[in-house]
Order: sequence, then structure tokens, then C-alpha cells
Amino acid sequence: LATAALTAAALTVLLTGCEGVQSALDPAGHQAGRIAGLWWLFLGVLTVIYLLVLAGLLIAAIRPRRRGRLHQGPAFAKEPPIERRLTRGLTAWAVGTGVIILTLTGLSYAVDRDVLGLTGRAELEIEVTAKQWWWQVKYNDPVPSRSFETANEIRLPVGVPVRVVLKSQDVIHSFWVPNLHGKTDLIPGRVNETTLTADREGRFRGQCAEFCGFQHANMALDVLAMPRDRFDAWRAAQLSSAPAPGDALQEQGRQVFLSSACVMCHTIHGTSAASRVGPDLTHVAGRLSLAAGTLPYNKGNLAGWIADPQRIKPGTRMPVTGLSPDQLQGVVAYLDSLK
Ligand code: CUA
Repeated sequence: LATAALTAAALTVLLTGCEGVQSALDPAGHQAGRIAGLWWLFLGVLTVIYLLVLAGLLIAAIRPRRRGRLHQGPAFAKEPPIERRLTRGLTAWAVGTGVIILTLTGLSYAVDRDVLGLTGRAELEIEVTAKQWWWQVKYNDPVPSRSFETANEIRLPVGVPVRVVLKSQDVIHSFWVPNLHGKTDLIPGRVNETTLTADREGRFRGQCAEFCGFQHANMALDVLAMPRDRFDAWRAAQLSSAPAPGDALQEQGRQVFLSSACVMCHTIHGTSAASRVGPDLTHVAGRLSLAAGTLPYNKGNLAGWIADPQRIKPGTRMPVTGLSPDQLQGVVAYLDSLK
């Protein structure tokens, strides 16, 4: 009874963790669905086995002992019935164990083959490059003017298979959006691929799943699955250059940005800033997070981040820029206008 209660409690704890923006057990796509299905099957089969073993142990513990009956009669003259029963039981147990393990292995292999099968008809290709500690996201199009770049978030249309090309610039990282798919490593000097197909709208959290240095934990990304028309509108907006400053403060900020260290690392299309070291900031104000999921995007967090990135994310490649309060105010106003 105690065992059953404990198992029930453990299951309850497990189940409460199933839903959410970063859960492999709340699948929002074909691949994640197959993985979750396999997970539940394993849990079911292994729970039954666990309970059977516990029941066997319990029976063995409370049954009156029959010591001494094993070797009654002329020693080993002929196999006593109890030994024959034991042998048969053990054989059945071993065969059963083998069949179960082989079946689960086979199913696991089949699911693996299925979810890793790359769709030849992916109509959208996204190139994700992992960098310590953020995600560069490029939407590649055969027409160069229809390609663009963003950071730390992937937007995709619901129901469309998206090929994700995975690269790393420095060390090994791992791309993991549990609601959509299993993990795929990003390895320097190598190109990996995965496919995401979201079957419902939503915001899903991805996380680097391979220890990659000091700020590994703060290397997250968002995946937004949206209807086709909203995705197309977003894509069209991303393709445009940065809007012109709307007022004097933004204009002052733009000038500070373009004459300071900011341009050593960042790109803003439509200006002279064109460096590829850090995230492309052309539409930074439309993003959900700053510093790869470290902070939600808002003006205050943006100011705090620029003022002292090393305090918020120690070790980040973003240096302390040493802007004066006035300059900072202008830069924040300008960047916050880049929707
Ligand atoms: Cu990148 Cu861990």
C-alpha cells in the first residue's frame, strides 16, 4: 500500500510538470509528439515491471520460509520438483526480459528514424549559428534581398515543415526546443540539420542543452509558431531597413550608436553599422528577450543591459560601453524605436 501511494505521488509530481512552454511532454509538433508517445510507453511498461518486482519481493518477504526443502532426498539424484519450477520460472523471466528490452529498443529505433527523417519538402530554411552565448538566426532565401537575420528567436508558420541548419562558431552547443523536437548538437566545423513542424500556435522556449561555458544557462531562445499570414507579415517587416529616427532624442541616440563602439559588433540595416560579431539589431525592439532569454525585452531592461552587461550576464562578449547617462538615454530611445 505504501509503495502504491508513493508511486501515485511520484506520478502526480511527474504529471504536474507536463504542461508548459518548455516541456517535452506537452508536444506541439509531430516530432515532439512521437518522442512524448515513446516516453509514455516506456513509463507505462516500466511502471508495470516495477510494480511486479515489488509485488514479488513483498510476497517473498511475507511468505513462510520453506528452508531445507531444496535438498531433501538423495542429494542431486534427480532434480527435485521445486528446482524444476525455479528453472522454468527463471527461464521465463529471462526470455520475458529479453523480449521487452528488444521490443522497446526496436520501438525507440523506429521513432528515432521517423523524427530524424528530414523532410525533403521543407519550404522554409533557417540557419541557426550558436555563439557563446546567443543564437544567430538567419532566414535564408534563394533571393538574397529576401534573406534576413535576427537573434534568439525563431518565428515559423504553423503546419509548415521548417528545415533548421545548425552550426556553431566556437564550442559544442545543443539546440533543444522540447515542445517541438529532441536535441541536436551544433558542432564547430560541422553542419547538422533538424526539422521543426509546429502543429499549433504558441510560444515555446528553447534552451542550449550542452554545457558550453560560463553562461550556458543563459543561452535560451523563443520559438513562436503563428498563422501563415501573421508570419508573412512579420517576415515582410523584417526585410525592411531600420526606420528613421522619429524625434530628436532618437536621432541623437542614432548618432551616438554610429560613432561609438556599438558599430564594432552590430548591424543595423539602413545605417553604416554592418558588423557581424554580435546580434543584428535592425528590428531589436520587436524581439521578446534580450541577451538570449536572460531578460524580457523592454526599454528598462535594454537600458540596464547596455549600461552594464557584465553585471547581468558575467562573461558575455558584450562589453561595458561607458556611455554617459545622456548618451545611454538616446541610444535606448533609438534602439527601442527599431520595431
Ligand atoms: Cu550553448 Cu550551452
